[in-house]
Amino acid sequence: MNYIYQNPSLTPMERTLNLLSLMTLEEKVGQMMQISYSMVNPTEAEEWVSKKFSGSFLHVLGDNADHLQELALSTRLGIPLIFGIDAIHGHGLLNGATIFPSQLAMSCSFNTDLIEKAGRVTAKEVAADGLHWTFSPVLCIGRDARWGRIDETFGEDPYLIGILASAIIKGYQGENLSDPNSILACAKHYLAYGESTGAKDAYDTEVTVRKIREVFLPPFKKAVEVGCATFMTGYQSIDGTPMAANKKMLKGILKDELGFEGFVVTDWNNTGSLVSNQKVSPDIFDASKKTIESGNDMIMNTNDFYDATLEQVKKGEISESLIDEAVKRILNIKFSMGLFDGKKRRGYVSKDVINCVEHQEANIQLTRESMVLLENKNNTLPLKNIKKIAVIGPNADDIQAQFGDWTFFSHPNPSPDAIPNFEYYTMLRGIQELASSKEVEVSYHKGCDIMNKEDIDIDGAINSCKDADVIIAVVGDCLALNGEFKDRATLDLSGSQQKLLEELKKLNKPLVVVLVNGKPLSIQWITQNADAVIETFNSGTLGGKALAQILFGEFNPCGKLTISFPYHSGQTPVYYNHLPGWHSPKYADMPVAEPLYSFGYGLSYTNYEYSNLKLSKAICSKEDTITVSVDVTNVGESDGTEIVQLYINDIVSSVMTPVKELKGFKRVFIKAGETNTVNINLAISDLIIVNADEEYVVEPGEFEIMVGSDSRDQSLIKEILTVK
Ligand code: GLC
Repeated sequence: MNYIYQNPSLTPMERTLNLLSLMTLEEKVGQMMQISYSMVNPTEAEEWVSKKFSGSFLHVLGDNADHLQELALSTRLGIPLIFGIDAIHGHGLLNGATIFPSQLAMSCSFNTDLIEKAGRVTAKEVAADGLHWTFSPVLCIGRDARWGRIDETFGEDPYLIGILASAIIKGYQGENLSDPNSILACAKHYLAYGESTGAKDAYDTEVTVRKIREVFLPPFKKAVEVGCATFMTGYQSIDGTPMAANKKMLKGILKDELGFEGFVVTDWNNTGSLVSNQKVSPDIFDASKKTIESGNDMIMNTNDFYDATLEQVKKGEISESLIDEAVKRILNIKFSMGLFDGKKRRGYVSKDVINCVEHQEANIQLTRESMVLLENKNNTLPLKNIKKIAVIGPNADDIQAQFGDWTFFSHPNPSPDAIPNFEYYTMLRGIQELASSKEVEVSYHKGCDIMNKEDIDIDGAINSCKDADVIIAVVGDCLALNGEFKDRATLDLSGSQQKLLEELKKLNKPLVVVLVNGKPLSIQWITQNADAVIETFNSGTLGGKALAQILFGEFNPCGKLTISFPYHSGQTPVYYNHLPGWHSPKYADMPVAEPLYSFGYGLSYTNYEYSNLKLSKAICSKEDTITVSVDVTNVGESDGTEIVQLYINDIVSSVMTPVKELKGFKRVFIKAGETNTVNINLAISDLIIVNADEEYVVEPGEFEIMVGSDSRDQSLIKEILTVK
């Protein structure tokens, strides 16, 4: 039978309304179900499609996805399934796909073009695999490094998170959702998920609605503005109301106020958790009702929702109009992306694109720019005139630690023994390969285990350093210390890494420490005792290749931290854009008030000097946009890229505002000895604050306009702007 909705010349919404009018209640509620393939057996999966008309699956790949799609297309109305996957730094759950640096790592590049490119590459590889939707980007704000999911964030600054998230969303979704290479993005986890008290994953966040509007909502607002197709509801609660039952945040702010027209998917069993964990519902019936009435459209992995909702609609306890609203949003996206028109079947896009040379080139570019040079005393780096390198440490040759979370090693089911079926570069391999081309010898010893304190071989490590001109110690953390359910009480180096480093230091050889870690660690000793330090976070498939190019000076490092490093674990949460305080910024039992490393900080093999800061207007109106210009001189001997940063401080405001906030940045390549004049536009509307009455206002008064190489006061030059 030919239905009207099958006519591709109609608009997505026309087709949606026609299809909706033909659907039974069972088919409608089925569309709201997202089933986890890893949680059902194949027969149950088939029944969810053919008998309960499920609209979506997650964590299903390849032939299994194809088979379920065939089943769905053979149902009465032939509504195609939409497949979601956590492709959050490449299509990492597929063994063989391009794995980019983690979000935290890539954010340190401040390179929106390369991050958009990474999104596009990921989209092509997900589409080639016959899937449609990535649960990415994470827009959570990483302000407490103890939280398990810091690696998934773009760092601690809301403005930068919004900019980078917009870039990767554009990459995923392309110019048109119906492009065979385009996939749906998913802005998650809505919202303030990373702010739980004590950094405890999925616990309550004691934030006010004003704080939500001022700090946590802006990145999600940017995601709505760039047309992000889906949002995901976070696990946590806000001031005692779980997000899944938070009508004010979901229906009120996201849908009604911001005008979000896509659909909202809950996170994993959020609905069931209202009963089992957050205790705001006595049973699945009440939980299902609250979930729908709050504005969630698709329900991830709460399979009891189906029967509970059907029963309540039939009893008149849940209005069918709410079901229609949710299903309308889901179908509109399915039509908009061409799902009904055969464009998104596996095979439509060639699988040859997966990890192809072009994608590897995009990866190495982003990986290099993501690495941050934290210390370089006496120009230890780049390596010169050396004959032997000793590579020591538990993370030197550990691709799982280097990949970090959300790859086929960790999801959908932990597979620590999986064998990558593609070329990858651990730190050791990258160093070995480039060193051999320079006739430099490389020795290697693991030195100790990353977790087990008893597992340490000091003698072996020391012996491996014999005759070495330089020691490269690769330390950090591992999958067991990052991810959901894996918050940390301390950020100290695990196992006997610290002891290993101290023994290496006694050899009085140049000591270069390379960090392979999911999050900031408490590395005060390293800062004080290493001759050079490079932060790589989780650098993906080509991390070792990129690191070697930096070590040997083939690439001048330009990454800047997007997250503060605490001086000590007890200093968390620590972030640059904090509100002013008084009494003492310093703990009584700590020597300094500042973090060990600040937001925006990163060294280069050259140095830059800032001068001649000018504002196009010193006095302006709220409607203006001013140009901030500054001269940046490369005073060193190496060409390099500098990330020029623009911060503001609202000197006096009706509510307290951060001591400084990033409001612009520009990457600029400057040849040695040259000066570039850098111009950054600042819209006065970006100086908006949320006052005590939750009104969005630009208040007249004086603002410090600060420009420099990082967020520390000593790195910034300032001018005063007066807003009338
Ligand atoms: C997980 C995560 C979420 C992810 C989803 C599907 O529990 O919280 O970020 O996208 O479930 O894997």
